[in-house]
Amino acid sequence: HKQVKKICCLGAGYVGGPTCAVIAYKSPNVIVTIVDLNKARIDAWNSDELPIYEPGLEEVVKSVRGKNLFFSTDVDTAIKEADLIFVSVNTPTKKSGVGKGYAADLGYVESATRHIAKVAESDKIVVEKSTVPCRTAQSMRKILESNGKPGARFDILSNPEFLAEGTAIRDLFAPDRVLIGSLDTPNGRAAAASLADVYANWVPRKQVITMNLWSSELSKLAANALLAQRISSINALSAICEATGADVDEVSYAVGLDSRIGPKFLKASVGFGGSCFQKDILNLVYLSESLHLPDVAEYWRQVVEMNESQKRRFTQRIISSLFNTLTGKRLAVLGFAFKKDTGDTRESAAITLIKYFRQEQAKIALYDPKVEESQIWFDLAEPGVVDDVTALKKQVQITSSAYEAAAGADAIVICTEWDEFRDTQLDYEKIYATMNKPAFIFDGRLILNQKKLEKIGFKVECIGRSRLEESFE
Ligand code: NAI
Repeated sequence: HKQVKKICCLGAGYVGGPTCAVIAYKSPNVIVTIVDLNKARIDAWNSDELPIYEPGLEEVVKSVRGKNLFFSTDVDTAIKEADLIFVSVNTPTKKSGVGKGYAADLGYVESATRHIAKVAESDKIVVEKSTVPCRTAQSMRKILESNGKPGARFDILSNPEFLAEGTAIRDLFAPDRVLIGSLDTPNGRAAAASLADVYANWVPRKQVITMNLWSSELSKLAANALLAQRISSINALSAICEATGADVDEVSYAVGLDSRIGPKFLKASVGFGGSCFQKDILNLVYLSESLHLPDVAEYWRQVVEMNESQKRRFTQRIISSLFNTLTGKRLAVLGFAFKKDTGDTRESAAITLIKYFRQEQAKIALYDPKVEESQIWFDLAEPGVVDDVTALKKQVQITSSAYEAAAGADAIVICTEWDEFRDTQLDYEKIYATMNKPAFIFDGRLILNQKKLEKIGFKVECIGRSRLEESFE
């Protein structure tokens, strides 16, 4: 099989950027060019301020950029020169038309594929890196075969990405597994072997697994569906805990010791966010419906519904604790990113919660250590509402520290589990002194020591833990 010497990646986003930067870092003999249509994004990758934040990313990029890692908007040249092309473009949920709200919008994948067909002059291995519905590789193959130049042959692989934002570099350095799907033909297997060799620069061979294309595509959707399902399951249990006096952290610890269940990814919270879980489950729902499997579709749909219900329930708890009204009250919202150690806000629970708080006429003081101010206004503005930002700015203030957000507040709402919000890092006595009394804390991420804060004087409300506890003793 062919040795890969030049790689091109279409899409310099959260996946394409870190993934291909790590490939370059770990494979000094391979030249990697990451391209994007978005010039601002490419400029940022070439600057000191990378467009995305991930612990460890900057070191990786800066050590190989200009050596065997390049960022460019010259898509044509990068495609022409590459032996292997990753398609790592966005696949958002469709906003209109057939499958609206569920199906993946494959427009970006298709146009990237057509671009490859149009400019490629020699054989290419085309790799689906984006998360796509089952059998997308088939569509890509048809597009490439019917539009490609004579003499250029295309092999399609599926190589879904399992990195988690916030730990992307760690995940890429030591993946649980690398999955490569190919057609079960000599050409397909040879292409898979070429890609496997690239990963073999740093991933143990036995962790690079190969299988058929459709299994590989479905495995990515399945992994995200199962991960999200765990969160919705523990969140559903958290509701029972709050109503009974059980403590969800204790329940999670107890059940996690069962080796069949395991302890990871069992933390109750205000709900999952991020660009992938909801999108990929809805995609699976759509797939199930198209395959005439309504019960299967309904099962997975419920995972997303439970996530929405968790946010509503948390909001309801805040309202009832604050004497049934939020009108004019100041809520210090700590955290806006969908999880810690990322500046990504896509589908962040904080966006939904702030929307609910605004509907209750609360005043919001928001602080996040990483998210850009412009991103926050963008996420909170309601599309189509005239001059919404003026109205928004009357209700929402962005502050530059947790202390500033909490000053004069009636309640603190923890939305993101940033380490700096922990009671070992923030001076909660100082915060307490500046707040209206009774001073409430709503811990949506279970990161605080409830007893310690109650000693200071806070009224503390945690997901999955009731204040009925005393009456059960
Ligand atoms: P993103 O939106 O951050 O990046 C996609 C980039 O592709 C954008 O910068 C866009 O300008 C560019 N692009 C679109 N069409 C293009 C074209 N024809 N040529 C060149 N560039 C083009 O998206 P992200 O988060 O990187 O996700 C990409 C894919 O990876 C999605 O399918 C997603 O589901 C999947 N994925 C995402 C993970 C995550 O943690 N964000 C994890 C695993 C998979």
